[in-house]
Amino acid sequence: MRVGIVGVSGYTGLELIKLILTHPTFKLTYLATTAGDNMVESIHPALQDVITMVIEKASVDDIKLHCDVVFLALPHKASMGFAKKLWDCDVKVVDLSADYRLLQETYEKYYCSHEDASNAHKGIYGLIEYYRDDIKSAKLVASPGCYPTATLLGILPFIPYIDTNAPLFVDAKSGVSGAGKSCTETTHFVSINDNIFAYNPLKHRHAPEIMEKIADIYGVDINVHFVPHLVPMTRGELVSIYATLKSDIDPIEVLKNHYANEPFVRIREKPVDTKSVSGTHFCDIYAARDGNALFVSSSIDNLLRGASSQALAAANIMCGLEENAGLPRLAYVP
Ligand SMILES: NC(=O)c1ccc[n+]([C@@H]2O[C@H](COP(=O)([O-])OP(=O)(O)OC[C@H]3O[C@@H](n4cnc5c(N)ncnc54)[C@H](OP(=O)(O)O)[C@@H]3O)[C@@H](O)[C@H]2O)c1
Repeated sequence: MRVGIVGVSGYTGLELIKLILTHPTFKLTYLATTAGDNMVESIHPALQDVITMVIEKASVDDIKLHCDVVFLALPHKASMGFAKKLWDCDVKVVDLSADYRLLQETYEKYYCSHEDASNAHKGIYGLIEYYRDDIKSAKLVASPGCYPTATLLGILPFIPYIDTNAPLFVDAKSGVSGAGKSCTETTHFVSINDNIFAYNPLKHRHAPEIMEKIADIYGVDINVHFVPHLVPMTRGELVSIYATLKSDIDPIEVLKNHYANEPFVRIREKPVDTKSVSGTHFCDIYAARDGNALFVSSSIDNLLRGASSQALAAANIMCGLEENAGLPRLAYVP
């Protein structure tokens, strides 16, 4: 199957190239950036002698001509500029941005006005373990944010057992690649090296994404108090969730039962770490309780399970392929 990537100069675009190069069925036929007119191995020197391919100036007509599936590895707003013109053709779309993840009113409150408002609700949320049946027939999958992925996979099994009126706190820590390739004052080496800090505490725009999906899956409204931190790592995300139990459960047993048939969710008997999932599609989860206090810890690679490998899993399902085709399992350890 012919695969295109728009936004190939960015971090998630690069991860997608690497994944598709080793995929058994997908073949890269179209790579694009805003400017085009370059070679992929020039933009990403790590790919020299691995792949040689021209990067085109991104165009909807070329996507339609060259792709069965296209990944939009673009910032929000830029993505919908392409997606809104792809509804009328057979190309399947996996969008890594936030443009089709949220209800229109939530999106417009936290991002910007929606340029494809009549289709905003048509994106199928790409959290594989919970939406795979819907993804099978999706025209466009809205791949989840990295923080929502780690948080939702960790907390969803416990929603029936927690007091939804008690505060739910999520303390999340991300490697700097989560912010994309553009350097800012916050992500500058001098700011992040030997340092750790919270940003947008209690008002980060991934909180409404988490709340909307809990409501969608369980029909309950929970106020999620979400505090992200940047940590001096390149990749990796660790999420610590604090909630109040209303039922007498064994947290590890709940997790094991809930994810018994999920090959890419690993239930750990000890607190999880980021290195064991780095370079993989795994989400590792651990949980413990002290009386009615519940602690859940989950870890992912933000660029893979939090972005590109999750997008690939969605594309596999949309195309009727084996769901796990090409998904990485070997961690970057030691
Ligand atoms: N990084 C993560 O861990 C992560 C996780 C989950 C989801 N995401 C989402 O995935 C998408 C891509 O993220 P990323 O980390 O790969 O970002 P990135 O490293 O900043 O790359 C994005 C690419 O988009 C292209 N682009 C096209 N139109 C643009 C515009 N109007 N403004 C800025 N760039 C534009 C840029 O390349 P050219 O200018 O060369 O075209 C850039 O290389 C984003 O929506 C992000 O929120 C990222």
